[in-house]
Amino acid sequence: MNEQNKVDRAKWFEGPGADCSPLPSEHHRAWRLVLLGAPGVGKGTQGELLSRRLEICHLSTGDLFRAAGSQEGCKQTPAMAEAMEYMRRGDLVPDSTVWQMVSERGDCIRCRGGFLLDGFPRTQAQAEQLKRFMDDEKLSLSAVVDYEMPLSEIVRRLSGRRICEKCNSVFHVTWRPPKTDGECDECGGKLYQRDDDHAASIAVRLEVYKHSTAPLIQFYKDLGLLTPVDAVGSSEEVYARTIAALQVRA
Ligand code: AP5
Repeated sequence: MNEQNKVDRAKWFEGPGADCSPLPSEHHRAWRLVLLGAPGVGKGTQGELLSRRLEICHLSTGDLFRAAGSQEGCKQTPAMAEAMEYMRRGDLVPDSTVWQMVSERGDCIRCRGGFLLDGFPRTQAQAEQLKRFMDDEKLSLSAVVDYEMPLSEIVRRLSGRRICEKCNSVFHVTWRPPKTDGECDECGGKLYQRDDDHAASIAVRLEVYKHSTAPLIQFYKDLGLLTPVDAVGSSEEVYARTIAALQVRA
């Protein structure tokens, strides 16, 4: 990736007041992607790989809420404190709070460099809000990648996940163990287990996915955007399948 096309998520994490730079060149293909799939299927892992390859910002609503929620008490709005409670339980944050956060970051959706949304939309109402917003801006999605995997594998991926508290890098105790136990390979930060990666929250998240998010598969199929990808196998294999599936749409 050259310096001119370097992606920058300042506006996503810090809000509309932040400066992000530099903008991609005019010749850059602006992919506008949504990643769908059950919790733990590997959206975040693929999101990082795809964002580097396609030079688009990886915009995760889960990362955004966790970053906002980790701010000290006085900076945290009541809506954000409430959102953190929903997340801990494994429930969805209310659509109104989610849309408020996303629409405040409308510049990221309008960005001429494109984007990769991970974890949003997650309900029919959110999908309709995104569609209305993009229609008004005369923009359209390039594809919606739907990662597919059996439930038993998902639970193993989630319960073994560890995350760096400093740089958010994702590890797995079996499939991607850090070189030093409990320490991030990238920055030396401490690794932690997410509050919602414990058995009780995982069960709620999978149930919520079935009821609220899985119906989006039909929504995007009807719009001719659905791109199913088998998520079983190593991250490199899944990545190669995703790139091959997107090439068909290029
Ligand atoms: P969010 O952060 O979006 O979590 P999620 O969708 O549940 O997805 P995960 O981050 O858990 O998993 P992933 O698919 O990214 O998998 P990963 O790559 O890490 O949302 C969290 C919460 O925020 C929600 O429950 C909700 O409360 C709230 N929220 C967020 N957005 C919202 C919205 N729009 N509306 C309402 N509420 C919202 O991989 C998992 C593990 O597997 C890792 O350890 C990884 O190393 C490993 N792994 C990945 N790929 C492979 C592979 N190919 N082989 C082996 N291991 C692998």
